[in-house]
Amino acid sequence: MIQPDNMHALLQWYIAAGVDEAIDSAPQNRFVQAPKTPPATAPETTPAAAPITAPARATPPVSVPNQAAAATNTPSEDTRELAAGCASFDELRAAIGAFDGCALKRTATNTVVGTGDEAAALMVVGEAPGGEEDRRGLPFVGPAGKLLDRMLAAIGLERSAVYITNILPWRPPGNRSPTAEEIALCQPFVERQIELVQPKILVLVGGISAKSLLDKREGITRLRGTWREFSVPALAEPIATMATFHPAYLLRQPAAKKEVWRDLLAIQQKLAEMPDKDK
Ligand code: URA
Repeated sequence: MIQPDNMHALLQWYIAAGVDEAIDSAPQNRFVQAPKTPPATAPETTPAAAPITAPARATPPVSVPNQAAAATNTPSEDTRELAAGCASFDELRAAIGAFDGCALKRTATNTVVGTGDEAAALMVVGEAPGGEEDRRGLPFVGPAGKLLDRMLAAIGLERSAVYITNILPWRPPGNRSPTAEEIALCQPFVERQIELVQPKILVLVGGISAKSLLDKREGITRLRGTWREFSVPALAEPIATMATFHPAYLLRQPAAKKEVWRDLLAIQQKLAEMPDKDK
């Protein structure tokens, strides 16, 4: 039996380690060894506390739609087809909200899709909702979002004039980094948002967003600061794209703001040189 004093120390240790959220309704006894072989009759659904990448059932029943198989984050053509079939933001938002194929949705409070001007000249793509975003169902509204607002204001852009979204519409538990499978599964949703907005300039903040949308292996330090192109078959022309450091990184490493300031000035200049979207 854990004594109250010890329990208090344990909770403080959790807080110091960054454990700030319970993700299951019942405690898990991690000291009980998992059986070496799975039980003969596998449960219908993966328990919430099981690893997110738990293997899919070998043969899903015929009546189960394809997205149920993807609930274990298996990259699938389903999300690409689903996203491509959405002709408007309303349809896309509804499709993402109804999509049950990503295990992250089970631990998230809200689905967080993009906000802002759906015909914006500039679109910002981040990584995934954090705690505040998850609670409010809006992207970039926590501390990193407030810094993003100031970064945009520094080049004369109001947040409402920009379209802001993330690679993932669901917060990974405890803000852990998303897995490659989760990114691949959700990427069609963000690509469809880009196709619908058709911005003049795309700004990718942070390594996850830059690497996935530019399809590169290099880290953000190498990717940032030079103009690149984002292209997908549905776009008539590639979109001028700038990767830069994530505002959350700037909160931890303020010295990196000078590089981001250079990137912002390049974005401002390019935006001023480009013809208006509707011309
Ligand atoms: N970080 C992100 O990448 N996106 C958000 O919406 C918030 C924090």
